[in-house]
Amino acid sequence: MKKTILITGGAGFIGSHLVRHLVQKYPDYHILNLDALTYAGNLENLRDIESSANYTFVKGDICDGDMLQQLFEKHPIDGVIHLAAESHVDRSILNPVEFVRTNVLGTVTLLNAAKNAWKGRSDVLFYHVSTDEVYGSLAPGDYFLETTSYDPQSPYSASKASSDHFVRAYGNTYGIPFVLSNCSNNYGPYQFPEKLLPLFISNIVAEKPLPVYGKGDNIRDWLWVTDHCVAIDLIFHKGRHGETYNIGGRNEWTNIDLVKLLCTSMDEKLGREAGSAESLITYVTDRPGHDMRYAIDPSKLEAELGWTPSLQFEEGLLLTIDWYLKNQEWVERVQSGTYREYYETQYGERLAN
Ligand code: NAD
Ligand code: TYD
Repeated sequence: MKKTILITGGAGFIGSHLVRHLVQKYPDYHILNLDALTYAGNLENLRDIESSANYTFVKGDICDGDMLQQLFEKHPIDGVIHLAAESHVDRSILNPVEFVRTNVLGTVTLLNAAKNAWKGRSDVLFYHVSTDEVYGSLAPGDYFLETTSYDPQSPYSASKASSDHFVRAYGNTYGIPFVLSNCSNNYGPYQFPEKLLPLFISNIVAEKPLPVYGKGDNIRDWLWVTDHCVAIDLIFHKGRHGETYNIGGRNEWTNIDLVKLLCTSMDEKLGREAGSAESLITYVTDRPGHDMRYAIDPSKLEAELGWTPSLQFEEGLLLTIDWYLKNQEWVERVQSGTYREYYETQYGERLAN
């Protein structure tokens, strides 16, 4: 049984849900949360569990090998669940080197620390939380399987593909027990409001334009964030070592259909006239290299580990909207600082065209 688990990136969107899930479900485990608190990391996301006896936060950068060595010396870590990353495709287009630093160099530095500390032990596990974007863009009718060839198209997905390869290479070369999962687009509370859903929710509240890239016909496969965390928990405890598991809820939407559904729901929630939010939709210059379609075939995870998503998308979307409406101050706080500058760079020119 794993007793001390190091979660990296636990102050981010998915990481904070995972930390909460594990801290509450496994009181006998010690959950260490290592996070550099970049613009995307926020300890407010964990206020409700921060004083739990089985939880410790450590501020640190996964590229800092000395700090990692000390962390492994100080704590009897026998499992790593690695989520820390730069995670936003648009930012990777603006600054690819930062993505190589954190996602590639950071992952290798972490693997190295685990290798040095674990010295060939087999009762340990390195779990890399990755994305379906490593597989590239899908033609209609196809689905991502664990055997699909890697074909990353953005600097973000190229950096995640590289880190996936390094995890397998460390397993193969140094014998580190590992497992990987590649998940589709997550949604839910605490997602940084630069990603599609939370950005559009906050723009609708402020009656600002909704910048739909291209024609809005790109397809994403959306999963409620807690369903992802339950899958990670299952794979960490019961997944076969050396394997990869694809995670997704069979829930494909074109961006424009999703945005229109969001608009209708937001008008109802805000008591605004029908059509108000939709009138904010603004088609803007497409994202360069924009992948057309992602869609996961989760059969392996369903068949081997009995995982199924818990929530219908329409229900999860309403819960998400409610959370953002109740937590407007959180949105304003995390969007202050460097975010404004990013938003102007990203959307200033697009919206002016
Ligand atoms: P996020 O951007 O919300 O959070 C990333 C976290 O990592 C932040 O808390 C940040 O402070 C931390 N971090 C960044 N650089 C760091 C560094 N050098 N050292 C230590 N901590 C650092 O990301 P997310 O959406 O929660 O994604 C988490 C992981 O899941 C990522 O690896 C991502 O690739 C993967 N993933 C995300 C999705 C999705 O839809 N969001 C889907 C599949 C996989
Ligand atoms: P995003 O949430 O950034 O996730 P990813 O790029 O990892 O899939 O974007 C989801 C989809 O929404 C993607 O096809 C790009 C599109 N999109 C827009 O049309 N406008 C926006 O302002 C953003 C952020 C995304």
